[in-house]
Amino acid sequence: MDRTSLMGHAPAPPGAGAFLQACDERHLLGLEGVPPESLLNLLDSARRYREKLRTPRWCSDELRGVTVCNAFFEDSTRTRVSFELAEQRLGAMHTTFAASGSSLSKGETMLDTLRVMTAMHVDLVVVRHRSAGSPAFLARHLDAGIINAGDGEHEHPTQGLLDLLTLADAWNGRFEGKRLAIVGDIAHSRVARSAIFGLTALGATVVIAGPPTLIPADAESLGCTRAGTVEEAMRGADGVMALRLQRERMESGLLASLGEYARVWGIHRERIGLMRPGAVVLHPGPMNRGVEIAPDVADGCESRVFMQVENGLAVRCAVLAHCAATLGEVS
Ligand code: CP
Repeated sequence: MDRTSLMGHAPAPPGAGAFLQACDERHLLGLEGVPPESLLNLLDSARRYREKLRTPRWCSDELRGVTVCNAFFEDSTRTRVSFELAEQRLGAMHTTFAASGSSLSKGETMLDTLRVMTAMHVDLVVVRHRSAGSPAFLARHLDAGIINAGDGEHEHPTQGLLDLLTLADAWNGRFEGKRLAIVGDIAHSRVARSAIFGLTALGATVVIAGPPTLIPADAESLGCTRAGTVEEAMRGADGVMALRLQRERMESGLLASLGEYARVWGIHRERIGLMRPGAVVLHPGPMNRGVEIAPDVADGCESRVFMQVENGLAVRCAVLAHCAATLGEVS
């Protein structure tokens, strides 16, 4: 039995996405239901951190005395490193827990593992786990503030915020009247869900497209519309987000071949011309060049892929500062 799993790959349970509630702002569990003012405040805060972070050797003691545990039960490069750097830049004490090499292999559960952390006076837990709803579960059982760093197919709220910041830059701060196309593996994408919740809350529209086997039947209930082809999704859009094929969360048989996927659904140079002038290209990473995104698009002038990474550090500073500010204020 895999003891790290709470609920296998089940959809997120009701209530898994109730976040930044007025009564308990220690946690950031998702973007679903977050009021537009809270999103805009976090984006403003991230912009201020971005300016500071661009100053060579900038650091502060804003989070001095706060202890953060980065608990990564699933692999990560961008999210884990940017949380660690944000914590260091803000002067927090921090430790990173990786599942490999831990006592999970001896049968310890995720909850007991994190009880170990909070027994050592950890204030905030940044958690990535393959089970949807696991951050909400931890928020109910631990005294620490919980920041969701990606839970299965549910949400990846700091990724959603960094995508909002990147699009706000490209769209001169305006979301109303703007349209983002999200193309690819929507079914397994927590990135798509957080982007849809955040963008629609701020007044933008989202159109999704991808192989029928990778689009959930109820996708439009998230607040987006569905296009039949990548061309239809991208025509007249103000930006496109290419999604990675999440083969680690995919059953076999959902795709004919990677070559066929790249031909039919890949973001190619010719397709960029379908979008409005000034439209941008996003990808959450890691990219599979030549599959969901052509190399010349990934490296092209429309690409904001590495701006997304820079914004990720600023957003994680803003979220850590926001959650830390509530410590001691919530009973
Ligand atoms: N976008 C994202 O979550 O990347 P990592 O898996 O590298 O953290």
